[in-house]
Amino acid sequence: DHITEPSRFLEGKHVLVTCGATREHLDPVRFLSNPSTGKMGLAMAAAARSCGARVTLLHAGSVDTGGVDATITRHAFSSTDELFRQVKAHADADIVIMTAAVSDFRPAQKHEHKVSKDSAELSITLERTPDILQWLGENRKKGQILIGFAMETRDLVPRSREKRIRKKADWIVGNDLTMDGSGFAVDTNNVVLVGEHMEKSLSGSKKSVARQLLQQIFESQVTG
Ligand code: CTP
Ligand code: CA
Repeated sequence: DHITEPSRFLEGKHVLVTCGATREHLDPVRFLSNPSTGKMGLAMAAAARSCGARVTLLHAGSVDTGGVDATITRHAFSSTDELFRQVKAHADADIVIMTAAVSDFRPAQKHEHKVSKDSAELSITLERTPDILQWLGENRKKGQILIGFAMETRDLVPRSREKRIRKKADWIVGNDLTMDGSGFAVDTNNVVLVGEHMEKSLSGSKKSVARQLLQQIFESQVTG
């Protein structure tokens, strides 16, 4: 799709983007994770940069950051706790974009040594991780814009609305996993942008969708 020369409407803004899958270790060689490759987050970071923002990217260690612009500051994370600490350290950003696929649960106990198969069965107790976006919503800097992402397999719009309210975010970008050309590890996306006063469907390459999202959000912030 056609991308015109970007206007620099994010000049002077600090944008924090998180992307990729967290890993929650059971032992030194095993972890719980998910298939997120971080592509949508990389596209959001690149789009914010091309609109003139100063961008900080917090990325999972598994994300391929080879193509990331050298002017974007990067920090790698592994677990949800590590990501949470890094987000708190950058929580003064003007815009926070939570594209990271954060694990909801983690093993309650992390074994120091590799678990061996000396038993016929193994039960793992999982405990909840902190909700980072919700923490941001509850500790929001004045004027900060919070954007979350949600992947759904059903009830896309109502679930996105519910998450926006529960997490006190400004926007949720809902992503229908059951649609062709959506979801993990592909270069295209179909999303619905859910705000307080506006809902809009967008599609195209992840790069184009990222730009359209920033533009829509910027336009509705300036027009109130
Ligand atoms: N998120 C977060 N911290 C978590 C879980 C999710 O910050 N512990 C953020 C994600 O980065 C995303 C948004 O919250 O921007 C929505 O994530 P999602 O998994 O769709 O929402 P959940 O509240 O975890 O609900 P669900 O039970 O559907 O997984
Ligand atoms: Ca979740």
